[in-house]
Amino acid sequence: MKKNNIILIGFMGVGKGTVARAMVKEAEEDGKLEEVGINSHFQEEEKLEEVGLASHFQYAIDTDDLIESMENRAIKKIFAVEGEAYFRNLEKKTALWLESSVDNTIISTGGGFYRQENLKNIGTIIYLKSSFEGILKRIKKAPNAKNKLKKRPLLQNKKEAMKLYDTRVKEYERVADIIVDVENRDLKLIVKEILGQIK
Ligand code: S3P
Repeated sequence: MKKNNIILIGFMGVGKGTVARAMVKEAEEDGKLEEVGINSHFQEEEKLEEVGLASHFQYAIDTDDLIESMENRAIKKIFAVEGEAYFRNLEKKTALWLESSVDNTIISTGGGFYRQENLKNIGTIIYLKSSFEGILKRIKKAPNAKNKLKKRPLLQNKKEAMKLYDTRVKEYERVADIIVDVENRDLKLIVKEILGQIK
C-alpha cells in the first residue's frame, strides 16, 4: 500500500522546505479550531477524521537536514571533502529509511533526490514548479540570500546551474504525481492547492 507521505521535489531554492513548514502550520491551525468543545483524545481523533483532517500533516522533515545530522557536517562540506557521489549515496540511504520507517509526514527533499529508485514507494510526489529566473529572484529576495547561495554547491556557477535546471525540469515532471506552480504565488494558496489536490 502506498504510504501517506507527501514528497516535495523541485529545483534548489524553489521553496520546498518553506512549503513543507507552511503545511504543518496549516494543520496545526486547523487542529486548534477543531479542538474547541472536544474533551477526550479519542473524540478528538474521531472528529479530526470526520472533517478530513486525518490527511493533514503534523510533521515536516527534510532530506538534506537528515543527511547533515547523520554526517554531523554541512552539505557544502560533504560535497567539498567527499564529492558528489558520496552525497548521492547518503541520499539513497535516506530514501530507503524513509520507505521503511516514515509515514504521515511531509518530506522536503534536496533538488537531486527525485532520482531515488524507490521514490514512488515513499509517498505522493509533488513537484514545485518555477522558472529558473523565478527561483533566482526568490533567493535574492530572502533576508539571508548570501547564505542561501553559498550553502548550495551546485548553484555556484549560474551557467552550469541553468543547464542542470533545463535537464531536471523534464525529469521532475516525469516523476511527479502532482505539479504545483509556485512562482510568484502566495504561500497560503500553494498550501491550499496541495491539500486540495491530495484529497
Ligand atoms: C542539490 C540540491 C540541494 C542539496 C545538494 C544537491 C541538487 O538541496 O541536496 O546541494 O542536486 O539539486 P536544495 O534543493 O534544498 O537546495
